[in-house]
Amino acid sequence: MFNLILFGPPGSGKGTQSEKLVEKYGLIHLSTGNLLREEITAKTPLGQEAQRFMDKGQLVPDEVVIGMIDSCLDNHPGAKGFLFDGFPRTVAQAEALDKLLDLKKTSINLLAALQVSEEELIKRLLNRGQTSGRSDDIKADVIHKRFLVYTNETAPVAEHYRTQDKYRTVKGEGSVNEILENLCQVIDESMRED
Ligand code: AP5
Ligand code: MG
Repeated sequence: MFNLILFGPPGSGKGTQSEKLVEKYGLIHLSTGNLLREEITAKTPLGQEAQRFMDKGQLVPDEVVIGMIDSCLDNHPGAKGFLFDGFPRTVAQAEALDKLLDLKKTSINLLAALQVSEEELIKRLLNRGQTSGRSDDIKADVIHKRFLVYTNETAPVAEHYRTQDKYRTVKGEGSVNEILENLCQVIDESMRED
């Protein structure tokens, strides 16, 4: 199996690049953000709880997202590998993921971290907020809160995988295809090593 974490701050292009990468490498795309938004649309109790956090730019509690990932992994027994997008977002989530994968006799192969300047991130998110209907893209203070949460709670996840020598940075500015090429380089390199 090949298990990849696509990592980066809000607006760094995780969702955009994930769509291309899962097609190219035949991986299963697991985006906790998308899964939570599906729960919100379906008006489930989980969705209603999650929305209170998401609207404020805060993280949904660890146990909720870990439970979602656990059942997704079980739903894809024959998968060639998984692409985690927007997960893990806390060190507790990373530790839980490592344990879940260990139970399946596999592990994370690579964390690819997209590098994008804050100026570019804000531009992309506000731009999307005009059309997407994503409530967390509209207000500048909610976007700011998401960045703050990323720095305080999510950035340490990179360190967690750096100590396992699985962390690689990737230039995340330029055209979508240029960034895809940058990502494919580190992925192909990691696949050759394993
Ligand atoms: P989530 O849905 O994961 O959002 P995010 O991390 O804030 O990131 P985005 O999805 O906004 O950005 P992205 O990196 O995917 O970039 P994208 O490709 O869309 O999380 C939302 C919320 O859910 C969280 O705040 C939290 O509340 C909750 N949540 C989710 N996961 C959780 C977890 N594990 N634990 C706890 N809570 C969780 O691109 C952004 C925009 O830029 C798009 O409009 C795109 O078209 C554009 N764009 C992309 N690439 C380029 C390019 N190269 N040039 C120009 N524009 C580009
Ligand atoms: Mg996304």
